[in-house]
Amino acid sequence: MPTILLTGANRGLGLQFAGQYAADGWRVIATCRDPANAADLKAVAGQVEVHVLDVTDFKAIEALAVELIGTPIDILLNNAGIIGPDNHNFGDIDYDGWADTFRVNAMAPMKMVECFIDHVAASERKMIVSISSKLGSMVENTDGGHYIYRSSKAALNAVHMSLANDLADRGIASVVFHPGWARTSMGGPRAPVDPGESVTAIRSIVDNLGIEDSGRFVNYDGQPIDW
Ligand SMILES: NC(=O)c1ccc[n+]([C@@H]2O[C@H](COP(=O)([O-])OP(=O)(O)OC[C@H]3O[C@@H](n4cnc5c(N)ncnc54)[C@H](OP(=O)(O)O)[C@@H]3O)[C@@H](O)[C@H]2O)c1
Repeated sequence: MPTILLTGANRGLGLQFAGQYAADGWRVIATCRDPANAADLKAVAGQVEVHVLDVTDFKAIEALAVELIGTPIDILLNNAGIIGPDNHNFGDIDYDGWADTFRVNAMAPMKMVECFIDHVAASERKMIVSISSKLGSMVENTDGGHYIYRSSKAALNAVHMSLANDLADRGIASVVFHPGWARTSMGGPRAPVDPGESVTAIRSIVDNLGIEDSGRFVNYDGQPIDW
């Protein structure tokens, strides 16, 4: 039975990933900040284990990795993310909020990889996936703004490209996805993409990824995105 470990599994895209992988027969190690208030996640049928994890708590990431020693993890999925503070416009930047956003969106995924690399290396699929955003692309940035979120996702993308280089000789693939503008709390009610459809599409792409795909930035519809 393949195993996935994911962050931010209690709502939005993360909840969809947990539900869909569980329905597909995977062992799902689902993490979230507040399991006591994660009723939807706890209601997911299948082999789902819920662990408390705030990804900004690096000691907690280390402790979870120790707790899971001996558990091969086929897919490490960094899904948790935040849009960042309201004050993100030129001339009105919340710098402390920027640092907090960086910690969640870019540093925590790196810490997850550092802590769980042996679990991933011991698995069959050996896949590290992060949910990034098109807003992190330099090429796609034709309208400016979004300094905080954009730069945090661009940093995540840079992390993944280095991982692709550094982990190739261990046979571990590193891929980032744009999930589309999806109707979650982050995407809002006007977003055109159904979160379940986004996750179904990403899962079918991930199913067919191999080490040769490492270092790719992929849209949920399978199209490559320029860095
Ligand atoms: N929706 C979109 O249109 C869109 C587009 C591009 C990229 N993305 C990316 O997709 C990913 C999922 O977003 P979403 O749309 O599902 O957003 P969402 O509905 O707002 O969910 C965000 C998830 O991240 C978790 N999270 C936030 N800070 C955390 C922390 N410090 N520790 C652990 N978990 C934390 C949240 O947990 P709590 O419930 O505890 O807050 C929640 O589970 C994010 O990385 C986002 O940047 C989304």
